[in-house]
Amino acid sequence: MSIEPSPPKPEIEALLAENRTFPPSAAFAAQANAKKDLYDEAEKDFEAFWARVARERVDWAEPFTTTLEWDLPFAKWFGGGKLNMSYNCVDRHVERGLGSKVAYHWIGEPGDTRTITYADLHREVQKAANALTELGIRTGDRVAIYMPMIPELPIAMLACARLGAPHTVVFGGFSAEALAGRINDAEAKLVITADGGWRKGKPAELKPAVDTALAETPSVRHVLVVRRLGDRAPACVMAEGRDVWWHDIVERQAPECPPVPVDSEHMLYLLYTSGTTAKPKVIIHTTAGYLVGTSLTHEMIFDVKPDDVYWCAADVGWVTGHSYIVYGPLANATTGVMYEGTPDTPGWDRWWQIVEDFKVTILYCAPTAIRAFMKQGEALPAKHDLSSLRVLGSVGEPINPEAWLWYHENIGRGNAPIVDTWWQTETGMILITPLPGVTATKPGSATFPFPGIAADVVDGDGASVPLGGGGYLVLNRPWPAMLRGIYGDPARYRETYWSRFPGMYFAGDGAKRDAEGYYWLLGRVDDVMNVSGHRISTIEVESALVDHKAVAEAAVVGKNDPLTGQAIFAFAILRAGREPSEQLGRELREHVAQVIGPIARPKFLLFTPDLPKTRSGKIMRRLLRDIAEGRTLGDTTTLADASVVEAIREHSGSAEEE
Ligand code: WTA
Repeated sequence: MSIEPSPPKPEIEALLAENRTFPPSAAFAAQANAKKDLYDEAEKDFEAFWARVARERVDWAEPFTTTLEWDLPFAKWFGGGKLNMSYNCVDRHVERGLGSKVAYHWIGEPGDTRTITYADLHREVQKAANALTELGIRTGDRVAIYMPMIPELPIAMLACARLGAPHTVVFGGFSAEALAGRINDAEAKLVITADGGWRKGKPAELKPAVDTALAETPSVRHVLVVRRLGDRAPACVMAEGRDVWWHDIVERQAPECPPVPVDSEHMLYLLYTSGTTAKPKVIIHTTAGYLVGTSLTHEMIFDVKPDDVYWCAADVGWVTGHSYIVYGPLANATTGVMYEGTPDTPGWDRWWQIVEDFKVTILYCAPTAIRAFMKQGEALPAKHDLSSLRVLGSVGEPINPEAWLWYHENIGRGNAPIVDTWWQTETGMILITPLPGVTATKPGSATFPFPGIAADVVDGDGASVPLGGGGYLVLNRPWPAMLRGIYGDPARYRETYWSRFPGMYFAGDGAKRDAEGYYWLLGRVDDVMNVSGHRISTIEVESALVDHKAVAEAAVVGKNDPLTGQAIFAFAILRAGREPSEQLGRELREHVAQVIGPIARPKFLLFTPDLPKTRSGKIMRRLLRDIAEGRTLGDTTTLADASVVEAIREHSGSAEEE
């Protein structure tokens, strides 16, 4: 794996110059779920700490007998135990009298709403699980889910979990090709989808992409289709014998389906994430540890109380949605908000209208969204009553102090604590974060490791860097919701995360600790970009580009972007006989969107005669980043041919921006 140190970025420098501190208010601290002694308890004996939490928070079908078996890098948590995730997220709340409590206030983009109580979830999950059984799904079978943000999405996930059938949710913005690859890797028997959903004021059909994908997925027997768009989805054609409408099969099922108790380490789901190669990694998460980790962090970090209205504005297709829209909040019997559409429809105050209408008390979103709102000005949030908000969260990328302060002042009205939460698809749960009511925050810092988590910042040799210095972020101890591996590839799991620094989990992020030990995350140190909080591998985009017949070679880097954090900057060398043109530029971008999905469409595209390479033929992305940023070039002594850079520079003025 190539690891190049990140070049200094202006916003990172602003981050490190930041020294304002926001201590918790006494009033917040007095009522906070989290107390300082949580750190002390966890530090004394982290296994005993997690064992206590697991006993208290989980309803076990059979109690666990061991807390942790750690055969580095393979962890087993809560061995001997049996449980069911959907029972813990739904049934037990109904049994304790919370059936009429709202699980989700759902808001469709056109303005339609649905209220789903825990009793509704209980009934619908059981009916859906019976429908899955009728379609041949048994414990251990994999199910692919490709859906818009509608209530049937969490219902489908919980129905899978009820049967012990691992799901693999594919974000609805991914292409048919990406969907096919994910279905095939998981050998999914069933795909659950919808005719489409609403996006930016228009119906967006989904089923045609499933049909395209299914041309090359031999494992799939059935497709279960939710009707969301109806007549507005003219291209939704049902294949006889294969495709079944949700309302036809689910509605007629009995509302009882006993939860299947599974082992603690039974696979709950697979989820893809981009790494340093063209093929994304398939991350494995299992049941008990994930439930323990997501539910404890959710309750402590967001200070969730029984009456809160909690809104995580991510898409369920990403890990944030899995852990903090579905499993963590439902395990805690939380009332959540789920919104189908985009923040700009019908206007840029849609979110603030939702906060006002539903009296949202906790909001969790990405810095990209906050920066987009900043651009629209203070007047829009000011028009709405946001006084219900009492905790604000941030996730997915470093938050620049300017956006932090804007969020604090204009959305939190100066008094809602902000929790900047660092974690990854791989970690399953938040690992570095303030605890509201306990931690004094600093704008732009994710502050400290969560109780029980051992993190460090190390240099290139794996030696801990003293406070005040920067290096690579590592984790030194297993944690309950950690990934259990890469599906089908234990060697890659070891190599990717555990070989750079022996004995330590290598996160792929740069970090610095200040003199007081606060962690400041500095972005990826590998070939992974972060665009609007979404991880995209440079190599994945490069291989999508060279997949086009006009392209001989391509290189991709992340360029700093004031709105999206990073933007994709592509360099393309054309095959002999092909001429650069605006038309071809558009075609190449479209091709990437086709192969991966619109989120991977390059913002900048530069046709270039050559690429800077080392003598061993490796593309020097570091120099390409300098060119993309218009910076003076770093060290060029390892270049095989120094004139190449000048040749690219001459062209760089012609980089097209979309
Ligand atoms: C980045 C999203 C700084 C980081 C939950 C990490 C962050 C990657 C933060 C994981 C944060 C996430 N501050 N950077 N608070 N949260 N990141 O897998 O680079 O989509 O490695 O998980 O996002 O992205 P993923």
